[in-house]
Amino acid sequence: MLKLVRTARPCPRLARGQATALSSHRLFYQNKQMELYAARATNRLTLRQLIFFGRAMDPERLIKSANYVRTELPVRIAHRLRDMQKLPFIVVTQEDIAKVYELYWTAFEKFRQYPPIVTMEDNAAFCHFLTNILREHSSVIPVLTLGLSLASPHLPPDDLDTFLRRMLISRISRRVLTEHHIALSESDGKKTAAAQGEPHVGIIFTGLNVQRCIDKCAGLVRQRGEGWPQVIVEGHVDTTFAYIKEHLEFIIFELLKNAMWATTSHHRGASSLPPIRATIAAGANEVSIRISDQGGGLSHTSVEATSDLFSFSHIRNAARLDDSRIGALRTVSSSPHGLRATVDEQVVRWRENLPNGFPQDAGADLGMETEDDRRMGIGLPMSNIFATYFGGSLELVTLDGWGTDVYLRLPKLGTNLEGIEV
Ligand code: COI
Repeated sequence: MLKLVRTARPCPRLARGQATALSSHRLFYQNKQMELYAARATNRLTLRQLIFFGRAMDPERLIKSANYVRTELPVRIAHRLRDMQKLPFIVVTQEDIAKVYELYWTAFEKFRQYPPIVTMEDNAAFCHFLTNILREHSSVIPVLTLGLSLASPHLPPDDLDTFLRRMLISRISRRVLTEHHIALSESDGKKTAAAQGEPHVGIIFTGLNVQRCIDKCAGLVRQRGEGWPQVIVEGHVDTTFAYIKEHLEFIIFELLKNAMWATTSHHRGASSLPPIRATIAAGANEVSIRISDQGGGLSHTSVEATSDLFSFSHIRNAARLDDSRIGALRTVSSSPHGLRATVDEQVVRWRENLPNGFPQDAGADLGMETEDDRRMGIGLPMSNIFATYFGGSLELVTLDGWGTDVYLRLPKLGTNLEGIEV
């Protein structure tokens, strides 16, 4: 049960049973600590800074990087804890949201109390600590989305979307800093691109080949079964730029998956399927990718405005409260793996979840959606969040009865700061 402290906000920890005078004093002290951290400004970075700093690593720089992560993360978490405390009481006490609140309190306390990193041995222990926290938080997105979907009737759509957007951007930012530091610390580069021979600094690929990403994602989606549409890549096909590969792949994979799904179901029973076109454009400041399908588009009865597809509110997007969606969120929330972080993980998940022989061909019963990732409805809004993290954008233009074009724009120079929501 949630107890109140004198600030009339939910208490920092979700105490179980009767709080003693001593524990309520401790809770009050903890909340004060959180407020102190939340009052500090975050130290936002650009992609370029992450690359320049990580380019020539030595023990001194590595330890500096570790201490930056150690001191920056509790500030970022405190900002979000404060956001959660501002939610209406009925929302923050919702079971799943309370779970996330607890997780963040625990993480905040652990970071706050973590001693300064001085030696390389300290750093190795810190990386181990970070890896565990990353794992403990792997199901935050489905748990939070489930909680907010169920609490949606208690929040105006703008408040809900703003809150969740901040939570998600901030989470991405914390995971980027954490994973980047771990990757910089791994001298054998096992988690990084080294094994694939692609240039990288930490988790950032400095010459990320866009066509190769599209081809890889198309191949992975098409592995689902025979008869999926072809993907034609055109435009500035030699484009390379510095970006976080996992983020680009997440978005492309999601967009291609949607495009293939729409095309296959719209042309069910046809002897051939119209291809999906992926057009790459390298401008002076940004890399753009347009994905065009002829999957029938979206009708205005299914969605008021295309931006509503990114919304987590049931008022803007009624499907948020669909039983199948809530059921899928529940399943993934309670899975030890949580939401996949990379496209490769998603493919493994698909394979595990597909019933025998599904889908055999393009004529398979596509009404029978079997994979939880799709039914959760998180993929597109998450792609939007990934796109905007470093100042990019994702827009949909749909022609009802014909198809949909999705425009992804990503800044190319790496000079944009992380979003203010971090
Ligand atoms: C998250 O994954 O939710 C995080 O905030 C991770 C961070 C504490 C390392």
